[in-house]
Amino acid sequence: MSIPMGIEGRSEIVADAKALAEAAAETIARTIREGDAPFRLSLSGGSTPRAAYALLAGRDDVPWEKVELFFGDERFVPPDHPDSNYRMVRETLLAGGRVTPRKLFAMPTDGTPEDCARAYEEELRQQYGASILAPGVPLFDLMLLGLGADGHTASLIPGQPVLSERTRWVAPVPQGREEVRLTLTYPALESSRLTLFLVGGADKAPAVRRVRAGDTALPAGALAPQGDVLWLLDRAAAA
Ligand code: 6PG
Repeated sequence: MSIPMGIEGRSEIVADAKALAEAAAETIARTIREGDAPFRLSLSGGSTPRAAYALLAGRDDVPWEKVELFFGDERFVPPDHPDSNYRMVRETLLAGGRVTPRKLFAMPTDGTPEDCARAYEEELRQQYGASILAPGVPLFDLMLLGLGADGHTASLIPGQPVLSERTRWVAPVPQGREEVRLTLTYPALESSRLTLFLVGGADKAPAVRRVRAGDTALPAGALAPQGDVLWLLDRAAAA
């Protein structure tokens, strides 16, 4: 009987939210230090990474000059809107002006969702240097992902057509959440040297178990990262 591959990967379990942020900041800083230039980092949104981004902003051991920052998804709102992932990153990682990445690619939200998705995809293709993702030539060096209690990651939301998008790299997600979203699709999310899931809280524990076991009924469970996978979990999410 074939065991579902799942995205088991390695896991590191820490005590609580504070330790989770510390472990995430340390892992991201070390991975950037050890990586080649340019180092393409895709940031996740939501609330979990806030504390880790704030810790990263205070470190002086990260060679940000080789880093190119991208976003895994975005809420289709203006960049100063309280729900904007870009605003969250600006208020945490980019606050204080010490983090000066070589390039920063926010997902545009100033046209139609379709036009903005296409524009971001074109930007990714430009940076990648090709329009087809080659296996073994990852688009990203580090893909930071969160996990919803419903098993979504980025804005791969259960029941939405984007789950079957295997050609485009970026797509609009018009339904499934209160705001329209833009998201990287499976091919783009999977094209990374390292995938780092950062998950905390007891409400996420059932989804963590199912995703790590490869339950493809959950959007994150159907992810097939090309490179290594590391789960950073607090005890509650790992229960
Ligand atoms: C977003 C994120 C999303 C997030 C999960 C977990 O835009 O909201 O990209 O995928 O990572 O929803 O969110 P929390 O960290 O807030 O629980």
